[in-house]
Amino acid sequence: MSKSDVKKIQAIRGMNDLLPSDSPRWQFFEGKVRQLMQRYGFAEIRMPIVEQTALFARSIGEVTDIVEKEMYTFEDRNGDSLTLRPEGTASCVRAAMEHGLLYNQTQRLWYQGPMFRHERPQKGRYRQFHQVGVEAYGFDGPDIDAEVILLSARLWRELGLLEHVTLELNSLGSSEARAAYRDKLIAYFEQHRDVLDEDSLRRLTSNPLRILDSKNPAMAEMLDAAPRLLDNLDDASRAHFEQLKALLDAAGIPFVVNPRLVRGLDYYSRTVFEWTTTALGSQGTVCAGGRYDGLVEQLGGKPTPAVGFAMGIERLILLLETLDLVPDEALGGSDVYLLAMDDSATAAAMALAEQLRSELPWLRLQLHCGGGSFKSRMKKADKSGAAFALLLGEDEVAERAVTLKALRDDQAQQRIPQAALADTLSEQLTHTP
Ligand code: HAM
Repeated sequence: MSKSDVKKIQAIRGMNDLLPSDSPRWQFFEGKVRQLMQRYGFAEIRMPIVEQTALFARSIGEVTDIVEKEMYTFEDRNGDSLTLRPEGTASCVRAAMEHGLLYNQTQRLWYQGPMFRHERPQKGRYRQFHQVGVEAYGFDGPDIDAEVILLSARLWRELGLLEHVTLELNSLGSSEARAAYRDKLIAYFEQHRDVLDEDSLRRLTSNPLRILDSKNPAMAEMLDAAPRLLDNLDDASRAHFEQLKALLDAAGIPFVVNPRLVRGLDYYSRTVFEWTTTALGSQGTVCAGGRYDGLVEQLGGKPTPAVGFAMGIERLILLLETLDLVPDEALGGSDVYLLAMDDSATAAAMALAEQLRSELPWLRLQLHCGGGSFKSRMKKADKSGAAFALLLGEDEVAERAVTLKALRDDQAQQRIPQAALADTLSEQLTHTP
């Protein structure tokens, strides 16, 4: 086979490489998230990426797009049916139950990592995507619903996104109230069968609430006039919803009640919410979640109230980029590029680099490697984006000094004793300790 016949293997459609030019934005975002979780008293949990298929089928629901059409399911070598996780909630419940975390105690947990759904890829929608998720267990009042919403709102505020996102809120009520409402809704849709599209006809008996979520303009008028779940809530759910709205009002978090917000996963009850933006086109939901008080019991545990959400990291990074909200400092590469002027100073340059890394742990220092002419070394220094080059030649080595050259302005270059270098760099470079 000639070389030109060899077909290059490419990444799987909808699964992205995160390149070095992208990773500073991700690290900036992830750093904010990690701090925020600590500040709110949430502890990190990490679950495996693969679980038994039954876990997702039983929790997300057999008749959902995710389980019906989007899961990466395969048989492993033992013949067990396994699935790449399409979301984190089911795994989190499984792990918390399995390790006794829900026994007579409350938990506030968070996780992040890749999720997998075989959806049609487009901007903001991928087959491997990443979520940050938050799950709280053992709290049944609306205070924790408000607390997790406040946590997300603080993240938007600190990222500069708050004015670009809208909080949509709804209540799905208890499962009993929902079952009664479901019958009403089916009866209504039966009367308007002629307006229903193919997808909706399919969902009519299996998952009629999802029809409410349809974006088909031909059905909009009929859906607007449909009976509203909010008018059919049980008393306890209604009180819960009213209290949550009052808490959000008191906290100064604006929201829009969207009676047609139903979510695409079956485990929800009572509160559901989504943070949406108009700045990303059709994939505008950046964070979504709600209460799922029945799920722990459904998976074989003791009844345990639960609430949480997950945000799509790709969508949030896209939004930060679109709005140019990543600070320049977060994108920066090196502070200093240290180079031997020729190969005779390589060992001395390496020793100085190590010394500086010990003295200034915050310093981002790139050591020149790979030899080359002096000119090419300086070119690399410039390309590194560093503010300063540190040059070490025969004279500097003999004098135990170093030449400091500013790369971004016209400051005269200066020769500094190596012993004074740490102090000089601390003065010249701004850094957050
Ligand atoms: P979800 O609505 O399926 O909920 O996903 C949450 C978020 O993940 C979405 O709002 C979106 O930002 C992001 N996302 C979902 N699918 C994709 C995709 N294909 N490409 C890019 N981003 C995507 C859940 O997953 C629930 N587990 C949330 C939850 C936690 N509810 C309670 N606790």
